[in-house]
Amino acid sequence: GPGAVILGIESSCDETGAGLVRITDGGPELLGHELASSQDLHARFGGVVPEIASRAHLESMTATVRSAFDKAGLRHRDVDAVAVTSGPGLAGALLVGIAAAKAYAAAWDVPLFGVNHLAGHVAADTLEHGPLPSPTLALLVSGGHTQLLKVTSLGGEVPDAITEIGTTVDDAAGEAYDKVARLLGLGYPGGPVIDKLAAEGDPTAIRFPRGLTGPRDAPYDFSFSGLKTAVARHVEGLQRDGLPVPVADICASFQEAVADVLTAKTVRAATDLGIGTVVVAGGVAANSRIRGLSEERCAAAGLQLRVPRPGLCTDNGAMIAAVGAHVARSGRPVSPDALGGDPGLPV
Ligand code: KG4
Ligand code: ZN
Repeated sequence: GPGAVILGIESSCDETGAGLVRITDGGPELLGHELASSQDLHARFGGVVPEIASRAHLESMTATVRSAFDKAGLRHRDVDAVAVTSGPGLAGALLVGIAAAKAYAAAWDVPLFGVNHLAGHVAADTLEHGPLPSPTLALLVSGGHTQLLKVTSLGGEVPDAITEIGTTVDDAAGEAYDKVARLLGLGYPGGPVIDKLAAEGDPTAIRFPRGLTGPRDAPYDFSFSGLKTAVARHVEGLQRDGLPVPVADICASFQEAVADVLTAKTVRAATDLGIGTVVVAGGVAANSRIRGLSEERCAAAGLQLRVPRPGLCTDNGAMIAAVGAHVARSGRPVSPDALGGDPGLPV
């Protein structure tokens, strides 16, 4: 109930996250959170190496949780429940967070909740802007997912709380960023560096294809592999002709294609389904052009737009605690014996 404090633990990919939130009637209140990242360790491989990620979670978990407590000015006896990401994500990485969460819940004698990572990304917004209206249309854009979701509740015992309206038929938007960055030699993760370089480039320099936007294509699905291939062909062509590669223009033009498709389909889905509020969430929602174009197009269509601040868009423990705060009010805790990681957990 109100006043209760939830610890959230996240370890599905390459970020170890711990966050503390308090349940209030106005939505979950963020008390403090901490992150440890293994991104630098993966950079030279051009993507996340699962074994390295698991080991890094193991090495940083306790210190990350302790630091979240310090930042919140709380002690472990203040915690009323523990929430942990149970999927989707990397199997070994998930298990590190789950093992830690089980240990804390047992030691402190508090209930344990398994939380869906994708619901977590959507819930991140409630930490800043309060409870979501029902229904809300969420555009979830991360390294592993690109989905349009109709959200009636963030979980608990609500049937069809989150239903999928559309998804990518190939690469996720973040994956496209990471692959394009790799082929331009910009390292991992690709999103932040492309976003930065794009600011110095011309978004109209190259007209890259917009996937699945034909009249007979699925109206709410996405495709990014053709875009990635088009960027690769473009770069190969320049190199073959001995021409310089205008990296900033390519970044800006690629980013424009991604932002155009994502925002056009989101606005169309919200309008078609009669949903008045749009949330953009997930690591790619940190992108400056996607944020800007979402604002422009939602305003033009009369839709209310909510986007968490960039620091809450990428993986973190606070968003998992936010789902925990929601589920603790209307759902049942899991038995620690029954809680395992589910790498392919759907929303
Ligand atoms: O949600 P997230 O932190 O982890 C997953 O659940 O996948 O998302 C990570 C993804 C990466 O692909 C990264 O390149 C992308 O989010 N990303 C961005 C930006 N910041 C992170 N993509 C575009 N622009 C950004 N500013
Ligand atoms: Zn994520």
